Amino acid sequence: MRELGKMTAEERQVAGPALNALKDEVNAALAAKKVALEDAALDARLAEEWLDVTLPARVRGQGSIHPVPQVMDEITAIFADLGFSVAEGPQIETDWYNFDALNMPAHHSARAEMDTFYMARAEGDNRPPHVLRTHTSPVQSRTYRADYDQTHTPMFHQFEGLAIDKDISMANLKWVLEEFAAAFFEVDKIEVRFRASHFPFTEPSAEIDFRCSWVDGKLRLGEGDDWLEAGGSGMVHPNVLRAAGVDPEHYQGFAFGLGIDRLAMLKYGIPDLRAFFESDLRWLKHYGFASLAVPTTYGGLRG
Ligand code: PHE
Repeated sequence: MRELGKMTAEERQVAGPALNALKDEVNAALAAKKVALEDAALDARLAEEWLDVTLPARVRGQGSIHPVPQVMDEITAIFADLGFSVAEGPQIETDWYNFDALNMPAHHSARAEMDTFYMARAEGDNRPPHVLRTHTSPVQSRTYRADYDQTHTPMFHQFEGLAIDKDISMANLKWVLEEFAAAFFEVDKIEVRFRASHFPFTEPSAEIDFRCSWVDGKLRLGEGDDWLEAGGSGMVHPNVLRAAGVDPEHYQGFAFGLGIDRLAMLKYGIPDLRAFFESDLRWLKHYGFASLAVPTTYGGLRG
């Protein structure tokens, strides 16, 4: 190229294009070689670092998932699908959250109904007491009551649903519960019955029953002439909305609370609730879920 300057105009007319063509050819060859080298390096890496994700996992040890966290995952999946978000709260609550904010002032009789475990206080400590939360209504997932038999344990799990807006009604509540029950129990439809009830934090209040039948001692959900009590519900009391800084003149909503252990018991045919908290490895082996399995609503259904 440097010689071009010394050439005559005629010579340059011939040599110029020829040299340019040669330059393009060399550049293209260099670029092609670069791509080829990069491809070869990538191929070598892929050959070296491959991983067969379809291989079954190696089973180590005896671990299994307890039915309660399994059912929590199932419930969460169903409600996430319905558009709810998940909130969790502390297990040790102030009595304000557990009671006052839920329309149960200091001497309200409903406080006695709750069989509450109070936290010990140092002598002379006059601050408001803390309690092991007694229900899901102060935003919780694990609750305690002084109760112990086949269907009640002092420590249990509960989940709560809450929807607040300008035009929420009992009809929305019923639909959500029916959708949930059908998805959870893997049936097409489960009829939900409301039974008039009382909770200080809802008005009106309703007990939730699912239609069911008992055939040869086995429970069938969604069909038959029996009703199974599943939890409490209602329209959030105006005082509760007010305590949370929400104007009850413009907003209303529904709330419901159901027992997780009870649902696990019904779905997976577990006869006694007390066994949930005994940490008996033989029981866990029988009723537990594979620790590497992805939780689904149908995964644990046997037979
Ligand atoms: N908190 C009630 C209980 O523990 C259940 C409930 C929740 C009732 C929400 C109404 C509304 O029994």
